[in-house]
Amino acid sequence: MRVRFEVKDRDVAGRLARFEVNGRRLETPALLPVINPNDPVVPPKEIGRMGFDGVITNAYIIRRHEHLRREALERGVHGLLDFDGFVMTDSGSFQLAEYGDVDVTNREIVRFQARIGSDVGTILDIPTPPDAPRDRAERDVETTVERAREAASLDERPPLALTVQGSTYEDLRRECAERLAELPAAVYPVGGVVPLLEEYRFADVVRVVLAAKSALPPHRPVHLFGCGHPLAIPLAVCMGCDLFDSASYAIYARTDRYLSVLGTLRLEELREFPCSCPVCTRHDPGELREMDREERTRLLARHNLHELHRVIRTVRQAIASGELWELAESVCRAHPAAWRGMEELSRRGEELERWVPGTRRSVFAFDEVSKGRPELRLYRRRLRERFGPLEGRRLVKGLKRPFAERVEWLEPWELAFADEWLGIVPGELSWTYPCHSLVTPGDDEGEDRRRGEEGRRR
Ligand code: GUN
Ligand code: ZN
Repeated sequence: MRVRFEVKDRDVAGRLARFEVNGRRLETPALLPVINPNDPVVPPKEIGRMGFDGVITNAYIIRRHEHLRREALERGVHGLLDFDGFVMTDSGSFQLAEYGDVDVTNREIVRFQARIGSDVGTILDIPTPPDAPRDRAERDVETTVERAREAASLDERPPLALTVQGSTYEDLRRECAERLAELPAAVYPVGGVVPLLEEYRFADVVRVVLAAKSALPPHRPVHLFGCGHPLAIPLAVCMGCDLFDSASYAIYARTDRYLSVLGTLRLEELREFPCSCPVCTRHDPGELREMDREERTRLLARHNLHELHRVIRTVRQAIASGELWELAESVCRAHPAAWRGMEELSRRGEELERWVPGTRRSVFAFDEVSKGRPELRLYRRRLRERFGPLEGRRLVKGLKRPFAERVEWLEPWELAFADEWLGIVPGELSWTYPCHSLVTPGDDEGEDRRRGEEGRRR
């Protein structure tokens, strides 16, 4: 069993990586569309042609339906789905959370996922709802960790996804992650967040993910289970989540909802399609409204997939060009609840300090939320802890960056500048990262107007 997670580029805590299991590759951050094996709204092969390298399906559902089970055992899950890319499977935990019970054991479902050739298979973890009583959350973590151990000890097992649970208790999330981190896994999902996402509790999503990430090993991808929300993805990638899955493209399509940069819109309120995917260039909203339900659902599902793919590609490019935090801020501005998540991330920026790259081309800052971004926090902390004493220097206030070149009568090392965004800047650091790369609203007046853009071009 060969599992590799090769990081190519990083920004904030996000990673651009190649995840490889048994020769099948996934470029991450990745979104895995959820395939209902009983009713794939869009055939997996076609999803592959849209640019998705992988999908996720449900081993529990496959095992429960005789015809699916037989075919999956004979031809493998890739054969069943007629899809040659990366196939992750889930275990029935979600059904467990929804219906309170499943008729399969952890051992059985883990073995079954190996038998059908899943590229990554999930343990039967116990998703505890948010705000559950403490003792229940503790018990569920205990069971989840036991099941992870059991799965890891089986001879017949797929590359494993060991899910972090712990409800909304940050210490339990951390403890669960610490204990799972000792076991061999291909992926460490963060589970039990679907109710938080459904209720738009983005700040709680941030707390829960940061707590789990604090104890998970950096050399494996982290999956945010059940998250395919375009508003949440950039924020989650900032925290170091690598994999996502989404059933929303199909669920929304069935109820005539359209994912867009403006949020989720109802087909009936659309006067034009704000998208240039093949569906939206060939049709207009009026045509879709007149189609029969089945045809309309298929087309809306295809558009929704294109939109999700656009979000993922944008996130990947933002990591490559070093503007992931900026992207998350602008995307989260689309909804006050998402903005609450961004505010929480900014308040907790210290926890991201250890992940951020050493330099970037430019750092844009707009307001108090940007002030908390980890790059600026890291600067302030390093100045405090490493730079040494600044006594004896002349403290200069009220100048614009770059500071030192504006004061000609003293040497840079005789000066320290007070800056609204950075705190204190010793004169000789005035031309270095992040002081020189910082672009703030006041800079836009006068001669510095284009500094940020030039910085971007390296
Ligand atoms: N899908 C959505 N949430 C979860 C979760 O917590 N665990 C598993 N296994 N699957 C999920
Ligand atoms: Zn479209």
